[in-house]
Amino acid sequence: MEGVTSLDDLPLRTNLQGLTPYGAPQLHVPVALNVNENTHAIPDAVVRDILAGLADAIRSVNRYPDREFTALREALAQYLGHGLAAENIWAANGSNEVLQQVLQAFGGPGRSLLGFAPTYSMYSILASGTDTTWIPGARDADYELSPATAVREIARTSPDIVFLCSPNNPTGTPLSLETIAAVYDATDGIVVVDEAYAEFAPVGTPSALTLLPGRERLLVSRTMSKAFAFAGARVGYLAADPAVTDALRLVRLPYHLSALTQAAANAALAHSAEMLAMVDDIRAQRDRLVVELARLGYAPHQSWSNFVLFGGVADPQETFTALLAEGILIRDVGIPGHLRVTAGTEKETSLFLDALARLGRPDRSGQTETARAE
Ligand SMILES: Cc1ncc(COP(=O)(O)O)c(C=O)c1O
Repeated sequence: MEGVTSLDDLPLRTNLQGLTPYGAPQLHVPVALNVNENTHAIPDAVVRDILAGLADAIRSVNRYPDREFTALREALAQYLGHGLAAENIWAANGSNEVLQQVLQAFGGPGRSLLGFAPTYSMYSILASGTDTTWIPGARDADYELSPATAVREIARTSPDIVFLCSPNNPTGTPLSLETIAAVYDATDGIVVVDEAYAEFAPVGTPSALTLLPGRERLLVSRTMSKAFAFAGARVGYLAADPAVTDALRLVRLPYHLSALTQAAANAALAHSAEMLAMVDDIRAQRDRLVVELARLGYAPHQSWSNFVLFGGVADPQETFTALLAEGILIRDVGIPGHLRVTAGTEKETSLFLDALARLGRPDRSGQTETARAE
């Protein structure tokens, strides 16, 4: 082929021109704490059962898979509890795809999506991809979102869809059921509560699932990528009124969940307790990060997720690069003076904290001074 073609030479849709794709670095480093994965390995006994399920499924892979993924929806309903049944459940290849399907069905040209910034970076990208107008709403101090602020932003922007991230990524901030209920009452549109990190909240925290009865426009999305240590398998899902799943059938590709994905997820869900056994440990490492980052002179934010956002970083890019040089990958989420780190295993968390301590501690002016032995 002659010449070099660039994006600018292609007849791209107007609303995609000038945009950049999602691009968290995928680097092979000893300590990867940048995309909020579960860094614990799946227990061997569960691996064996998943392999048996896959072996079974591969025998009939000459046929299309169950388009309704009935067994998976039943297993997910059972996992969630709250009186949910298979008809309340929808699933796709990651909750990113679930959210995309929601925008395909309820968003689109002439419609808008309200989120509360800073929030999960894929929301605006999914909005562009479906030609839905993205509205970044405001939060309160410390990234909190009170019922009053959320309702005020809805009155100001009249969105067709609202995405609430609970707890919020990249800040880790919890969201109250009062805010969710107030948002629902303030709009006639679709309200999605993205509970990707719900399993990491303090034990006993009520889920937005408790708000579903009587609220047919409320959708609660979840993922197996985080607590379930299943990011590579790509399984996300939502719970809602059965009419919502009917709407999503209009936009999904036929057979969008492969037979292998369904088999792997079913086998993993049969072992929920073992798969979730590491959640307690991850919570402990997260809480340790909050304590130790403060001790090092940084300003960590409260987190109910498997990651911690911390401020007081004089030069985020410099700290990011210095840690990377030591084989530790964290995330610059573009918030001035801040970086985000995933809670890893105890060893990974120690390696991160030790490396950060060696870089020196920030002083009051935001500069770092060489660490002194204490
Ligand atoms: C808030 C939030 N929602 C959804 C996702 C998407 O997860 P997945 O597509 O792996 O289910 C992520 C991933 O980081 C996330 O942080």
